[in-house]
Amino acid sequence: MRITVNGGIRSAGKSDLIAVPCYLGKKGAEIDPVWAPHCKKEVAALLGTGDFTGKAETQKVIYAPATPLGAERILLVGLGEASALTPESFRRYGGIVTSLARKTAGKRAVALLPTAGEFPTRAARARAVAEGLGLGAYSFDLYKKTDAAKRSQQNISAILLLLPDEKELAEARRAAAAGLNVAFGVNLCREVGNLPANDLGPVELAERAKREGRAAGLAVRILDERALRREGMGALLGVASGSARPPRLIALEYAPRSGRRAKGAPLVFVGKAVTFDSGGISIKPADGMQDMKFDMCGGAAVLGAMAAIARLKPKRRVVGIISSAENMPSGTALRPGDILRSAAGLTVEVINTDAEGRLVLADALHYAKRYKPELVVDLATLTGACVVALGAMNGGLFAKDAALADRVRKAAAEAGEPFWPMPVDDAYFELIKSEVADIKNSGGRYGGAVTAALFLSKFIDGFPWVHLDIAGTAWTDKESAYTTRGATGCGVRTLVRLAETWA
Ligand code: BES
Ligand code: MN
Ligand code: ZN
Repeated sequence: MRITVNGGIRSAGKSDLIAVPCYLGKKGAEIDPVWAPHCKKEVAALLGTGDFTGKAETQKVIYAPATPLGAERILLVGLGEASALTPESFRRYGGIVTSLARKTAGKRAVALLPTAGEFPTRAARARAVAEGLGLGAYSFDLYKKTDAAKRSQQNISAILLLLPDEKELAEARRAAAAGLNVAFGVNLCREVGNLPANDLGPVELAERAKREGRAAGLAVRILDERALRREGMGALLGVASGSARPPRLIALEYAPRSGRRAKGAPLVFVGKAVTFDSGGISIKPADGMQDMKFDMCGGAAVLGAMAAIARLKPKRRVVGIISSAENMPSGTALRPGDILRSAAGLTVEVINTDAEGRLVLADALHYAKRYKPELVVDLATLTGACVVALGAMNGGLFAKDAALADRVRKAAAEAGEPFWPMPVDDAYFELIKSEVADIKNSGGRYGGAVTAALFLSKFIDGFPWVHLDIAGTAWTDKESAYTTRGATGCGVRTLVRLAETWA
């Protein structure tokens, strides 16, 4: 699908569908005032019925072959109250446009830029809408070569994002391209996240990361089993020991054009990529186990973010580290009671082999240190306890430094990804103190998300660190404006925002 940006209603041309932004007004739906004069007649009857209110994330299609807008269909999209618009309202608008356009028989769609609300620039609007257009275009149909799936790929091949006139057109074009780069990264994360574990193990993930990384211009480093042994990564190797598939540690490095001389220490993003989490010997119940193919979404988010960052070219150096293993039960598997030696030198008593995420992250967080990071952010589908605490509406954000937590939370919110602050408090340490090793990998049910974060904190050696638990937000059963069932791509936009704005 191609997305172009133009200015002025005359350049709309003929299309199969034209999307019109509408707002929730005091007396029913209000068409965006800039665009209203062009479509009043066609939609008057609908507005008269009161069937469409302009409430956020609502939509109505009108078939209007005679419209002066030159489209067969008019898609009215509600953005909510004009005074309460945020970039997220614009993303959702874009998402609704492409996800609906994909389902129509046409080839060409036009999305009119929403003009209401307070936004610093037209470019900011264009970026948010383009991001949504890109996100709404995604569907996971690699394994469904049915007629319907084929058709959905053949539909709408071009979308025109239309500005009221040619003012700031060049800036808006650049901003829309940036928004599409972000969507590319999110969609890559979703695609890799959705792949079933039989087709995506650690080796395949590393191959994919190499391919995507090289295509984007990143330096890619892959540590195989021998290299992991050389690094002493007993925690990651321990998790992988039950699987026939060997583990991998993947490093993706981005440097701005000025290269080595680039000022400032890098941001380092670390992701958990357990390509399937059966629980290991502490095996999970069968019910819902299929969802554990998504246990690599933290790593997938790091991959997606790095692919986007390489295209957006921020000034800051950024490194992505993906720690990947498959957690399986077998005769060679990790057992409860085993003691592992991590790369950091700390020994870990394994209480529960299902608490494997913190083990694969421990060695990756230690590896992050060699980059002398300015900030490390890790992402992981780490605990069921975080899902119990926060549901699917917020990820958990853990940091020892409250000011740092605020900063990252703000960046995430701006990117449209809500996180809620949680403690990383040494008072919980008694729960993961071991009699026989330096630390144990499970503190039981109570405070499960916090003890997991506290475990990670023991592998942080002197650099600022934030942990994001995305167990509840990395996948979804619900369809909404720009999300489909499966992997959501959660985390990508937060990481990209951090890379772009970290001063
Ligand atoms: N990958 C899971 C966490 C998870 C659970 C994510 C449910 C999404 C939905 C993680 O590896 C795990 O199994 N954690 C255990 C830890 C426990 C054994 C201390 C958990 O949360 O139950
Ligand atoms: Mn587990
Ligand atoms: Zn897991």
